[in-house]
Amino acid sequence: MNASSPLPPVQDRGQGQDRPANSLYGGTRNRRVTVRDIAAAKQRGERWPMLTAYDALTAGVFDEAGIPVLLVGDSAGNCHLGYDTTVPVTMDQMVMLSAAVVRGTERALVVADLPFGSYQESPSQALHNGVRLLKEAGAGAVKLEGGERAAPAIELLVQAGVPVMAHIGLTPQSVHALGGYPVQGRGEEAAHQLMRDAKAVQAAGAFAVVLEAVPAELAAQVTASLAIPTVGIGAGVGCDAQVLVWTDMAGMTAGRVPRFVKQYANLRAVLGDAARAFGEDVASGAFPGEEHSFH
Ligand code: KIV
Repeated sequence: MNASSPLPPVQDRGQGQDRPANSLYGGTRNRRVTVRDIAAAKQRGERWPMLTAYDALTAGVFDEAGIPVLLVGDSAGNCHLGYDTTVPVTMDQMVMLSAAVVRGTERALVVADLPFGSYQESPSQALHNGVRLLKEAGAGAVKLEGGERAAPAIELLVQAGVPVMAHIGLTPQSVHALGGYPVQGRGEEAAHQLMRDAKAVQAAGAFAVVLEAVPAELAAQVTASLAIPTVGIGAGVGCDAQVLVWTDMAGMTAGRVPRFVKQYANLRAVLGDAARAFGEDVASGAFPGEEHSFH
């Protein structure tokens, strides 16, 4: 994280028993993961995990756990900033959140989302804002939503030296046009379009592509037809990588989570219990004790 907290020993990272030293997850690389490492993982057929992160503290936990790619998703809108959708998220917010995640990590490749309205106008708008995320926040790559229609922006970004992760299938920034968050790629024409989108972003130079809310069989076909890795969310086990929004994965999200989420903890209950225990102690006078007091 910083000079006073050096990398933990490699055996503490990613429960890496029996994984090759060059594994993305659980490997022993003591430097930032790069897009070349991601390409090599596809060649080896290695599956890898990606999580979202929106602050330095949480990002540091995931980095120490060996998660090789952290996405500063514009899901920050819903999961961190209290909006109903990702639509209101701004470039300034993404720069601030992404810079915090970069500061909190040493090994993970940090991918920062281009928010709604920051790249759709023209490829040069995409380049301007993509460069901001690399220069001002220190991100290693950007992500944007869209397939064929986003290809010109991806091409310009990549030519300029900005690595791009594409995002097709369900694209949450289009929530108002889609009328919600329906599964994508169902039916012959939609499946063909998804395949065209995947090929278009690969041809434009994307180093990976997120497939969101897509039938598992179609996602597996797309994965097999691409040389770049697919990162699935609600897209079945046939993708090269899997991503979850961290607040869903760890049980921080209030209320229902999407069907494709697996909850690995119940942090909301743990934090709520801690807050209530603190509240009770303060109300009863049990906190602070002698050991917490100065004389
Ligand atoms: O913003 C986000 O968190 C995302 C993931 C769901 C892929 O785009």
